[in-house]
Amino acid sequence: MTVTFSEKLARIPGYQAGVPTGQAPEAIAAGGIAQLASNESSFPPHPKVVEAIRAAAAAMNRYPDPDATLLRRRIAERYETEPGRVAVGNGSCEILLAAAEALCEPGAEIVYAWPSFSMYPYLAALSGAREIRVPLAEGEVHDLDAMAAEATAATQLVIVCNPNNPTATHLPAAEVATFCERIPAHVTIALDEAYVEFQTDDDPDATIDLLAEFPNLVVLRTFSKVYGLAGLRVGFAIGSAKFRAAVDAVRQPFSVNALAQAAAAEAILHQDDVAQRVERTLVERVRVEECLRGLGLHTAETQANFSWIDLGDTDEKEVVDALAERQIAVRPGRPLGDSGHIRVSYGTPQENERFLTAIGELLE
Ligand SMILES: Cc1ncc(COP(=O)(O)O)c(C=O)c1O
Repeated sequence: MTVTFSEKLARIPGYQAGVPTGQAPEAIAAGGIAQLASNESSFPPHPKVVEAIRAAAAAMNRYPDPDATLLRRRIAERYETEPGRVAVGNGSCEILLAAAEALCEPGAEIVYAWPSFSMYPYLAALSGAREIRVPLAEGEVHDLDAMAAEATAATQLVIVCNPNNPTATHLPAAEVATFCERIPAHVTIALDEAYVEFQTDDDPDATIDLLAEFPNLVVLRTFSKVYGLAGLRVGFAIGSAKFRAAVDAVRQPFSVNALAQAAAAEAILHQDDVAQRVERTLVERVRVEECLRGLGLHTAETQANFSWIDLGDTDEKEVVDALAERQIAVRPGRPLGDSGHIRVSYGTPQENERFLTAIGELLE
């Protein structure tokens, strides 16, 4: 079947920016916008990371290392695996897109939960695969039984977002393991763990141990969240050497630029700093959640750096617009297929205070 240009374009969802586009991040900060719409880190990169970027900048006349050799070695050392099993990309989004392109032909199926990360619909739209969205179960968690039941001979890719964006809910590694046992060996299981460092259910590396047991499992992580490097765009996946080869065959060879490689290779050495960032975020999580409860608002049980707030009968657009008027950017739930919700990232204590005061006043 031939697909016309406009039909193809109509299938592609289109990204909605968290804050007005066309403004540099410094301008956003200077303009006093509380940017709580993109689940970024409110902490700037570690000073040694900034130093590494500065040093790498002097050699910008050269293309980056297409194999990201140092970065992949450091990731492999951190996770006690081989560099040959580490794929890198221009953010973990690029790895997801590359996986869909490499693994899926038209007629293939991609299974994921919904609502979940807004990038997933692109995978089917661009690869021509059929998407199967499995509604979240009670408590806004993945319904792993229902997802496993959807895995058929046509399925090429199953995505589990854990913790889930936008609901922030998390399933422990033991449940992920039981799920993997039920998925046929020909299906690639992409475990998208962009926020895993913030969950307190398990050791954040518990799922890495599952890789030895399930050759079709791929764990995706990112430097965009806890490491505070969203602006550089670098993510990675640990899986089989075959998966890495598939991603490398599809992505642009230089997609991870030299500054991003230098920064991420340095950042991963500072695990003490990662632990501190997590701790400071968790302090804010407890405070924000407590305050929301005090306002009578229900949230899904968060294991991430954001809350998914049920607004009940209150119109979410009105809330988002009223907050925007006060220079507070949050993410509306509706484009993700759910209404009456907003997703709010934890910012600095001051930004969180601004948000909590504003939402309290709006719901009075
Ligand atoms: C679940 C999930 N996966 C992946 C990403 C993207 O990460 P990256 O910046 O590495 O592309 C995000 C970013 O918001 C996310 O929420």
